[in-house]
Amino acid sequence: MNLPKSIINAAAALGLFAVIGMGLVALVHHGTEDRIESNEQAVLRHTLESLVPADWFDNDILADTITVSDLTLGTDKPVTVYRARKNGKPVAAVLSPIAPDGYNGTIKLLVAVRTDGSLRGVRVISHRETPGLGDPIDTDKSDWIFGFDGRSLDNPPESRWKVKRDGGDFDQFTGATITPRAVVKAVYKTLTFFNRNRDRLFDQESGSSVGPNP
Ligand SMILES: Cc1cc2nc3c(=O)[nH]c(=O)nc-3n(C[C@H](O)[C@H](O)[C@H](O)COP(=O)(O)O)c2cc1C
Repeated sequence: MNLPKSIINAAAALGLFAVIGMGLVALVHHGTEDRIESNEQAVLRHTLESLVPADWFDNDILADTITVSDLTLGTDKPVTVYRARKNGKPVAAVLSPIAPDGYNGTIKLLVAVRTDGSLRGVRVISHRETPGLGDPIDTDKSDWIFGFDGRSLDNPPESRWKVKRDGGDFDQFTGATITPRAVVKAVYKTLTFFNRNRDRLFDQESGSSVGPNP
């Protein structure tokens, strides 16, 4: 079958545009992914610095890391643990667990624990909770997250590691209990994990992976 030349030309032009279009989309996608990753790194560094004061440690906290795999930390993926030391002695660990049961999905946390098991602080590094309802977990929306500072497994006692609605010590938000409930639960579980694994968290060689506690 002989097609008119004008149709062949039009089809060729369309094909060319499609190829150029796909190439442009791929390029933009690649660039955006790189930018998101470097933004996340910058946020992580900044957040770590705000959690562990610079004069507490003299090691490279971003490099002195191990990964741990334990479902207590809310995920089946390896979780990074940043270790702060001064003169070679452990000072604090910052764990990056997940609260899996937020209203709109997972909430990524950083939980800084001193070697004595008390919380230096907690920060949310990413979430998709509803603006105006679940987002007071962000430090730029409210100071709710600072309520964890200084807490530990026995402060408050286990039965009060809940939001007030459930009989615990931690505030919920107006019309939004699911988000703070998920964060309180994840922080408590992280403390239990830290308490069970404290020594091996600091003893493991940097860069190594630790499985669940036998
Ligand atoms: C569109 C929509 C978005 C919501 N987003 C959240 C949220 O991000 N976090 C949350 O805890 N509750 C959220 N809620 C409310 C929950 O459905 C639930 O009612 C609430 O968490 C229970 O808290 P309460 O017992 O204090 O009412 C949302 C509700 C609706 C309708």
